[in-house]
Amino acid sequence: MTPYSTAAKAIRAALPGRSARIALVLGSGLGPVADAVENPASVPFDDIPGFPKPAVEGHHGRLIHGTLSGREVFVLQGRAHAYEGHPLSDVVLPVRALALLGVETLVLTNAAGSLREDMAPGSLMMLTDHINWSGANPLIGPNDPALGSRFFDMTQAYDIGLRDALRRNAEAQGVALNEGTYLWALGPNFETPAEIRAFRILGADAVGMSTVPEVLAARHAGLRVAAISGITNFGAGMVANEILDHEHTLKQGATIAESMTRLLLEFLKDPIHE
Ligand code: HPA
Repeated sequence: MTPYSTAAKAIRAALPGRSARIALVLGSGLGPVADAVENPASVPFDDIPGFPKPAVEGHHGRLIHGTLSGREVFVLQGRAHAYEGHPLSDVVLPVRALALLGVETLVLTNAAGSLREDMAPGSLMMLTDHINWSGANPLIGPNDPALGSRFFDMTQAYDIGLRDALRRNAEAQGVALNEGTYLWALGPNFETPAEIRAFRILGADAVGMSTVPEVLAARHAGLRVAAISGITNFGAGMVANEILDHEHTLKQGATIAESMTRLLLEFLKDPIHE
């Protein structure tokens, strides 16, 4: 037994008869998406062996199952971050457990800082690619061939079909959807203005402290991945005299949660999930 197969077994026991091919990961301030789940059944992360316990304000830790737009889904409400001290193998354990439970599509959300003047706080950005700036990687260590291969491709980590579907459905809902490259910084501090300038030169459009580990584990396990950032602030130094804090992240929460919920509910109706 691996830690993720133990977790999968515990989920099966806690949520009998519940399965789904789609899973959603909700980031900071996006708890309201979870409220839209119909016929919900949930299990606290505390009750799933090996699941890391998120500690940041604005995060709850529970796995919900139910239907969204008529489709069965698992929803991870709250996630653990590397900066909390969790080993990356623990950060990605929920993704691996869900893969063992038959999940084929993973949709991740997060809060991120904008590196582009034309991408304002309150807006959404669909990830088209990422930069792993952390120097860390959840795949370091022995490879489990039951999950995937040692060397795996990341050329189209963010699935082209899912990206098309997100674009379509954002348009249908009148939700403005930016697109760009997300850079993973370990945190927990916000970046320095010099780091933000450097990341812009590197070609990043947004910066955040999550998502990339889960995307790596998901791609390793062969899942289709889509990810959307809720932009909570401009990067450090981009707005004169502005100081960044977690309040900024939570303040944009209502606007972002509203458009993210509308987009996700429409996206889940898309025939691409059949
Ligand atoms: N930097 C890193 N992570 C973030 C930011 C930021 O500016 N905003 C929200 N998450």
